[in-house]
Amino acid sequence: MKVLIIGSGGREHALAWKFAQSANVTEVLVAPGNGGTALEAKCRNIPLSAPVASKEGIAECLQATRAEKIDLCVIGPEDPLAVGIVDQFRAAGIAVIGPDQAAAQLEASKSLSKDFMQKHGVRTAGSSTCDSLSEASTKVREHFAAAKAAPLVIKADGLAAGKGVVIAENLKVALETLDEFMSKGSLGDAGKTIVLEEFLRGVEVSVLAAVSVEPGKAESATIVPFISARDHKRRYEGARGPNTGGMGAIAPVPDFTETARKDFKEHILQPTLKGLIQEGYDYRGFIFFGLMIEENRCSLLEYNVRLGDPETQAVLPLMNSKIDELCQAMLTGTLKDFPISWSAGASCAPVMVAEGYPSAIRKGDTISIDQETLKAADVRVFVAGALLQDGELRTSGGRVLAVSAKAADAEQAREKAYAGIKAIQWNGMGFRTDIGTEKAEQK
Ligand code: AMP
Ligand code: GLY
Repeated sequence: MKVLIIGSGGREHALAWKFAQSANVTEVLVAPGNGGTALEAKCRNIPLSAPVASKEGIAECLQATRAEKIDLCVIGPEDPLAVGIVDQFRAAGIAVIGPDQAAAQLEASKSLSKDFMQKHGVRTAGSSTCDSLSEASTKVREHFAAAKAAPLVIKADGLAAGKGVVIAENLKVALETLDEFMSKGSLGDAGKTIVLEEFLRGVEVSVLAAVSVEPGKAESATIVPFISARDHKRRYEGARGPNTGGMGAIAPVPDFTETARKDFKEHILQPTLKGLIQEGYDYRGFIFFGLMIEENRCSLLEYNVRLGDPETQAVLPLMNSKIDELCQAMLTGTLKDFPISWSAGASCAPVMVAEGYPSAIRKGDTISIDQETLKAADVRVFVAGALLQDGELRTSGGRVLAVSAKAADAEQAREKAYAGIKAIQWNGMGFRTDIGTEKAEQK
């Protein structure tokens, strides 16, 4: 079988690697891919002349599926999903993993997503949606007048690449945020409508899952959750510094107990499944539940309509099942009977970033990797922001790569990952030293 993966990040490298592991898969093409997928065994990049979420980019991907006789296509990132790449591919008769455009709005629109949660009884924070500055300002003033000490969460409605959520500790910050999002338009159209949300306390857990929901086939519809994961979003040790796209991930999460998992299934997973069926979505793809958990009680912060990044880089190495077989089960309505299996161990995947990240970054630095040290550490490098140029890997993005290690337990996985990091060097590189320790999320 020949597989096409669309995207260019660390998640797509991990997916490409996982597909390439399967004996059923002869070749994995990645459009446009990165320096890591260019070097990965059985993998080949397909350059694109336009972004994957543009009309031209989608047309090029569609053309590639025909020219290369692709048997299965997997969409990695959210933006092509939000503009309907899956609808176009399905209409063209291509086997594709991802939600249709209507379902992809569960990530692309926070207000739609909150409406879905409320309508279908998915436990989440109380919220209200505002599309005018005056209405939002009034609500914000009311909140801080009534509950001075409680922060308020302000979310831009649209896709904002991780910049659309502000936890306002006081009225001043809240009003400034509204001004930035709604008047100054700092996020473009994404911030024209906002969601005001009750602040929840607790610890965050990410649950990635496989979904098989097809209109008219409710009896075979199911969501199969993967092992739990956590990403560490702050730039510096001890959860300090600015938010990033993720400085490292672990799987599974020790504090996601059996009780919490049961609560998640009852109050979040099952109502979500019922909702997806009732809305008539064609959702044969991956979903990401961003949970806040307090005393084993789960609330849903957000859906992402794709696999998480960098969680995927920690989770997929622990999956024993063949991912192409999992995808076939999602597409053919047999996911309920699919015997998904996981390694009993743990993994740890710290991310290495470019100088300046998450602000302006330096690019173009040559990455040197001491292959012997890397081999001795027994780790896997998943590239995100680096390209292969003149035979060298050179940095091209903020999050450059993740070093993913798996072992019998979390402590050993962490030790291996950090031994692997020692093999890698470039000018200005940075990483957190505490991924996989208890201190990583302490404030
Ligand atoms: P979201 O994109 O909705 O997941 O929000 C991004 C991040 O903001 C989350 O990962 C949380 O750390 C934080 N956050 C979002 N909503 C809330 C909330 N209601 N209470 C507390 N923290 C939140
Ligand atoms: N790690 C969170 C995300 O993928 O959005």
